[in-house]
Formats: sequence, C-alpha cells, structure tokens
Amino acid sequence: MQYTTLNNGIQMPLLGFGTYGVNRVDTLLAAIDCGYRLFDTAQMYGNEKEVGIAIREAITKRGIKREEFFITTKLSSNMSFEGAKKGIESSLKALDLGYIDLLLIHEPYAQAKDMYRAMQEAYKEGKIKALGISSFTPKVFSEFMKSCEVLPAVNQCETHIYYQQRALIEAMKPYKTILESWSPFVAGKSGFFDNPILVQIAQKYNKNVAQVALRFLVQQGIVAIPKASNPKHMQENIAIFDFSLSVADMKAIRSLDTNKTQFSWGY
Ligand SMILES: NC(=O)c1ccc[n+]([C@@H]2O[C@H](COP(=O)([O-])OP(=O)(O)OC[C@H]3O[C@@H](n4cnc5c(N)ncnc54)[C@H](OP(=O)(O)O)[C@@H]3O)[C@@H](O)[C@H]2O)c1
Repeated sequence: MQYTTLNNGIQMPLLGFGTYGVNRVDTLLAAIDCGYRLFDTAQMYGNEKEVGIAIREAITKRGIKREEFFITTKLSSNMSFEGAKKGIESSLKALDLGYIDLLLIHEPYAQAKDMYRAMQEAYKEGKIKALGISSFTPKVFSEFMKSCEVLPAVNQCETHIYYQQRALIEAMKPYKTILESWSPFVAGKSGFFDNPILVQIAQKYNKNVAQVALRFLVQQGIVAIPKASNPKHMQENIAIFDFSLSVADMKAIRSLDTNKTQFSWGY
C-alpha cells in the first residue's frame, strides 16, 4: 500500500474500500484480508456498526493494530452545531473504535459551517484525527475555507475518467487539501468498463480496466475508494501498485474528461 500525507501530517492510504451498500461483516473482513486498511462509511450507509465490528474482529482475532486502519465516516444530514456534536458522538459510538480517522461533511449542507465548528472541537479533543468535506465544488470550497480554523484535509468528490476535477484540484492546492475520488468506476455506468481507450491501455500492461482507472487516480495523488462486494474485484482493485502508466497513457486518459457529473443527482 502507498500513502499520502495529509495537511496535518496524518498518513492516509491512497487506496481504500468503499462500503456503500456493504452491510455484511464477512465482506468487510474479506476486504481486510485482501489488505485494505482504509474503509469509507457514512451515517447514511447504515453500516457504521458493521464496519466497527469487522475492524474490531481484525484487531482481536487477526492481530492487526488499530493504528493500521484508517476509518472515514460522514455526517450525513444538515445539522446545527449542537446537532453535529451529537452526530459525532453517535458515529463514535456506532463504530466503537476509540476515534475516527477522518470525518467528512457528506454534502455542502446549509449549516455546514456550524457542523464544521463542532468537528473542529472534536478534532481538538482528539476524537477525530483529520477533518474534511465531500462534494464541495471549487466555488463552495473557496468560500467555505474562509471560515475554517482547521483546514479540511480531504474533499471527497465524484472523480473518475469522465469527471477529472482539474479546477477543484487547483482550487485546493493552496490549502494542501487532497482530492478523494468517490465512484471511481462511475458505479459501472456510462459504459465505463467497456471504454475502448481504457481497454486498449489495460491490454498493454496486462491489467484490466478497473486497475488502469484506479492507477490513473492514485498516480496523481488522488485517493480512491472503489466498492467491491465480489472478492475477485477486491483483489484486482488493490493490485495497482506494481505498475505505472506512461506519460502518453496518462495523457490519453486525460482526454476522456467531460468535466461533467455522470450522476443525475450530482452536485
Ligand atoms: N461522498 C459521497 O457523496 C459518495 C457518493 C458515492 C459514493 N461514495 C463512496 O465511494 C464508494 C465507491 O463508489 P460506488 O460504490 O458508487 O461505485 P464504484 O466504486 O465506482 O463502482 C462499484 C461497482 O463496480 C463494480 N466493480 C468493482 N471492482 C470491479 C472490478 N475490478 N471489475 C469489475 N467491476 C468492478 C462493483 O461490483 P461488485 O460489488 O459486484 O464487486 C460495483 O458494481 C462508495 O462505496 C462510497 O464509499 C461517496
């Protein structure tokens, strides 16, 4: 596994496991056994408890240290300052892992600034190791930054071959806020797995489309959290640190950018 260093010095794996729709502890344990240490959950996914059970089992029965894991969760609704304080306690309790590695505001909610104040408080108390946001566009991000005491370390956004978020990456550079890709495979939509350019590049490296698409992200320092319930997919997705895409292939994939969301509910 390779890591990136966040703007507060914390190390974050470049590749993680997306848990949307994954509620089975055995699926989560299979991902741990494949080598995944970053798990991305959210209050909205209804599986914080199961994620906590799987991690605790890996700690007690497989001897993996808590510090090796990087657990992300998200406050998934608009909340007041007091509401967010309760929300943080609720996630800490559901996960039951002592602390949260990364807490995000799931969407740019109306009261996001109040929510973030509560997150900053919990961060200072050591309950959370890093703070972030999700689906904040360049404009919303820049405005939000004016009110932050603790700079967001991560902005988790829809990012893949068709929506490469180059303007956002530039807007975040001065703050060293890193981009984390959600739906790196477009959730299988938009003909993703049959894209002819990816198919052609994959053949060249003896890899598959999923691996090339993930490599394209991590090679730029973008963290990716693909979801896979199929163990074969889990294994394929983590096997991306033994090859590099050439400058020409990176350029060819860059040309696929439409700079547009592929989801009707995109922000
Ligand atoms: N912050 C946000 O608002 C937000 C929004 C969306 C998602 N997310 C996060 O991002 C994670 C990933 O996004 P996502 O779940 O929407 O979709 P995704 O990771 O883009 O795609 C998942 C789909 O790809 C398939 N797949 C995985 N690996 C494959 C492989 N090697 N070959 C072929 N097919 C493969 C999976 O099938 P199988 O399951 O059958 O293996 C599943 O159908 C989520 O789980 C969640 O943690 C966050």
